Amino acid sequence: MRFAYVNGRFLPHREASIHVEDRGFQFADAVYEVWSVRKGRLMDSDGHFQRLERSLGELRIPAPRSRAALEHIISELLRRNRVTNGLVYLQVSRGQARRDHAFPKQRITPTIVLTCKRLDHAAAETRAERGITVITTPDQRWARCDIKTVNLLPNVLAKQAAHEAGAVEAWQVDTDGHVTEGSSTNAWIVTKAGKLVTRQADHGILHGITRARIFKCAQELGLEIEERGFTPQEAYDAREAFLTSATSFVTPVIAIDNHIIANGEPGSLALTLRGAYLREA
Ligand code: PDD
Repeated sequence: MRFAYVNGRFLPHREASIHVEDRGFQFADAVYEVWSVRKGRLMDSDGHFQRLERSLGELRIPAPRSRAALEHIISELLRRNRVTNGLVYLQVSRGQARRDHAFPKQRITPTIVLTCKRLDHAAAETRAERGITVITTPDQRWARCDIKTVNLLPNVLAKQAAHEAGAVEAWQVDTDGHVTEGSSTNAWIVTKAGKLVTRQADHGILHGITRARIFKCAQELGLEIEERGFTPQEAYDAREAFLTSATSFVTPVIAIDNHIIANGEPGSLALTLRGAYLREA
């Protein structure tokens, strides 16, 4: 049986529920985090906890549990669900209150939900060995994409557009014509001169924990990174392209908008960084 954790209780998945007037449900007034679980261990655990604290702080939602308590809940959840390879999903909303856009005047208790599921890392490995394709699409999101909120409708529509085009991911393009990031991943290219390029971590993108780890891996490998936006055209002409996220690690991109990148094979730097990431995270 699958279990979820809701507001202090482990419940069978199909019985786990939240209130109809939860502000996460009504206003997307909630934040979330996703950890990859590999061989029973949370990957990049610290980074994801720190970002959770930051997201909560930016929205002035009180932390519902201490980090130690959360770690304990996560390990119990993984044990009950017998997950050693997969992911953990955590969501915290401001809580439940009569529907009114402004924050409730009375103190309310945040809603906390945790779920986990198994993932087939071998299938992801095959995908990385083959490389994936992406499309570009206008970035239709709000001005604080650095906060990991469940306000994901533009991301949902972008991912759906990618799937309908036979691609795996959509790279969103801002009004200046620069790629910000994927619908659920950060976007990277390698220039002909061998420099890694990824969009600067301002309010326009999620500050990916995998992205930050790749900065460390790149530094150790003596690779140079330029933090700036790049256009779809620069990406079509790049030596390599790849994306990063907690669940996909580093995944080579072999075509963008039907333009084949280089020789259409996964790039060697992307594969080197994937190896380094899996050793270190
Ligand atoms: N997505 N950009 C966006 C918009 C994301 O949603 C994510 C993560 C990332 C990569 O961040 P990280 O390396 O910290 O996973 C970038 C998660 C996995 C999700 O929504 O399922």
